[in-house]
Amino acid sequence: MNAATAIRNGWQKVFGTGARSERPPAIDTSHGPILYLEDITVSFDGFKALNALTLYIDAGELRCIIGPNGAGKTTMMDVITGKTRPDCGSAWFGQTTDLLAMTEPEIAQAGIGRKFQKPTVFEHHTVFQNLELAAAGEKSVWATLLKPLSATQRELVDSVLETIRLQDTRSMLAGALSHGQKQWLEIGMLLMQDPQLLLVDEPVAGMTPQEVERTAELLLSLAGKHSVVVVEHDMAFVRSIAKKVTVLHEGHVLAEGTIDEMQSHPRVVEVYLGE
Ligand SMILES: Nc1ncnc2c1ncn2[C@@H]1O[C@H](COP(=O)(O)OP(=O)(O)O)[C@@H](O)[C@H]1O
Ligand SMILES: [Mg+2]
Repeated sequence: MNAATAIRNGWQKVFGTGARSERPPAIDTSHGPILYLEDITVSFDGFKALNALTLYIDAGELRCIIGPNGAGKTTMMDVITGKTRPDCGSAWFGQTTDLLAMTEPEIAQAGIGRKFQKPTVFEHHTVFQNLELAAAGEKSVWATLLKPLSATQRELVDSVLETIRLQDTRSMLAGALSHGQKQWLEIGMLLMQDPQLLLVDEPVAGMTPQEVERTAELLLSLAGKHSVVVVEHDMAFVRSIAKKVTVLHEGHVLAEGTIDEMQSHPRVVEVYLGE
């Protein structure tokens, strides 16, 4: 499921019928973590893409996940979002929401947003309209775009535009944006759903150094309000945002700690950084 589909399947916060009353109940993070993955194993024809993976993400945390190709990073995101069902293990969103009992759209509605590597914006609509559509849920494109915005809706779009720093491009067609701007717009589209947990797969691949820097600022600004899990290979970028880094290898956690600890960890250097 791509991000646009996820958004369409997402709960209707501002533009949909019933508006805020349809917002899912807040996730219970009273014990600290917003995400619990325990003993998750995923096999493909006997090969274990995830092998008893156990990982916790705290509410409001910005976590970086690194590791060699094939380590299981994308499969982990697939399990969290309901795209792939594990053979065994458990996955909880806060204290009370069992992700393994939910469908992909239900997980998106519960407040988990996923940003895939390739941007999937509506190229033939403006930046502003993209954000409007992102909040529209099941309604048709034209029904959404023809209906005038309420003051609250406009405020929400404006605040997201400010967060992703695309105010000056609001009337531009999304197709005319740079690659980096499209990535920010897509993050903005996810933000229209106000996800409590955001999963971001290789956000800075193909970006200019300036775009990488702005992406770091953007993700840092989201932490606290949201929990953010970032998979990324660009170590300078990881260094600029990460407090805690998890290294995946062969489907489980090889090491966890600060970026300095990871960069001086013999096994991490051996299997990943020394590549
Ligand atoms: N649908 C699938 N069918 C078979 N093997 C898969 C499938 N998805 C992933 N794999 C394998 O699982 C392993 C982990 O893949 P992946 O999660 O994409 O790793 P990463 O994102 O860390 O590079 C790889 O060896 C990959 O080839
Ligand atoms: Mg991957």
